[in-house]
Amino acid sequence: MAIPAILSATVISRSFFCERGYEMKKNIDDLAIFGGSPAFHEKLHVGRPNLGDRKRLLERLEDMLDRRWLSNNGPYVQEFEQRVSDMIGVKHCIAMCNGTVALEIAIRSLGLKGEVIVPSFTFVATAHALQWQEITPVFCDIDPNTHTLDPACIEKMITPRTTGIIGVHLWGRPCDITALEEIAAAHNLKLLFDAAHGFGCSYKSRMIGSFGSAEVFSFHPTKFFNTCEGGAIVTDDDDLAEKIRLMKNFGFSGYDNVIYVGTNGKMNEFSALMGLTNLESLDDFIGVNRENYKSYTHELSDLAGVTLIDYDHREKCNYQYILLEIDETVTHVSRDQLVDILRDENVLARRYFYPGCHKMEPYRSYFPQAGLVLPATEMLVKRVFSLPTGTAVGPDEIKKICQIIRTAILCGQEIKERLSDHVDIAPVVKYLNGIARHAKPDWAEQMLPL
Ligand SMILES: Cc1ncc(COP(=O)(O)O)c(C=O)c1O
Repeated sequence: MAIPAILSATVISRSFFCERGYEMKKNIDDLAIFGGSPAFHEKLHVGRPNLGDRKRLLERLEDMLDRRWLSNNGPYVQEFEQRVSDMIGVKHCIAMCNGTVALEIAIRSLGLKGEVIVPSFTFVATAHALQWQEITPVFCDIDPNTHTLDPACIEKMITPRTTGIIGVHLWGRPCDITALEEIAAAHNLKLLFDAAHGFGCSYKSRMIGSFGSAEVFSFHPTKFFNTCEGGAIVTDDDDLAEKIRLMKNFGFSGYDNVIYVGTNGKMNEFSALMGLTNLESLDDFIGVNRENYKSYTHELSDLAGVTLIDYDHREKCNYQYILLEIDETVTHVSRDQLVDILRDENVLARRYFYPGCHKMEPYRSYFPQAGLVLPATEMLVKRVFSLPTGTAVGPDEIKKICQIIRTAILCGQEIKERLSDHVDIAPVVKYLNGIARHAKPDWAEQMLPL
């Protein structure tokens, strides 16, 4: 693939990872977890930020500094909001300081209260944005094939206290929006979408962001498109947009006139100019993700027990998550063992979104039996993990990563046995170091590298 000019600097810098003449790890003892040297000198992160044209970014930054307009609906925020609403095809985009505050404001502006149905298989911010306002998140199961809310389960969770549904377009794959719209209409519920992963994606050829009463994006650096920190609410509803604009600015309508309870949810000018610059590279970022996805598919498609996330190629996709599902009954090596093996090779694979919101506090204490109605969630949180993509990796790195996975799975039975014999002394050393740091007995000074 030809590397887009604006990304070439980022891609060249990663030559650091690809030593010439690298020997593929073919045997169990080549793996770093069993004493081999790590496949990568530098850590490969999931969600390493993509950066657009640095020159253009610095020009805009100079301009912002000259103007000394740093926040409060500055010209870059206005331009950013216009660009995003044009791209999504909605009337209003209200830029925010992050996706979590945007969710909180969207929930409040819609008047949600009582109970709201959400998936447990999501980032905890989706649930916290409700709980923060003393609204009960009612965790609903997902369809194990799509990882989004299972419409058949939603109906069972509705009570007289239910006021809304928040669907999450997990990994950028849209919810079954048509079914959710029908349920919401039938029960007179508000429908909101957490589209934190869905920027640049479409559903039935319409851009994500244009569904429900409103949708919320996150532009956190782990997302393929970022504004440093940032988020946005997008909606076609004029009254709702007006309310959201007031709420994100302390309720100010005019100079001294507060007409509403509000907070500070504003996006600042630096985030907006970062966003404008990154928007200019959006197609390039997606192109790199798409090529990486193809490389992972090529390397892993014949590996039994491993399923790579499937995207609907007829729709617009951002391909930002390389998610693998592991069937341990076939691979023998577990998802957690695979993650440990990769991490020792400096591939910082991540369990997403383990262990599910219902297993986190305060929800674990509030709803100790929630797992009983979340069988698909409970199954998936134990099976999936995510691998690096974006401009930080290319075909060479992907080949090496997949070779490690292949070796680990082909030797799955032996690895499982060796790792279960393997005693992890790291916690013991940490504990002894802790004692030594406080008490400093002579023996500890001699024994431990403090
Ligand atoms: C599904 C989901 N919802 C909400 C958020 C919160 O967004 P932010 O980090 O911008 O506050 C995130 C992640 O960051 C997320 O992944």
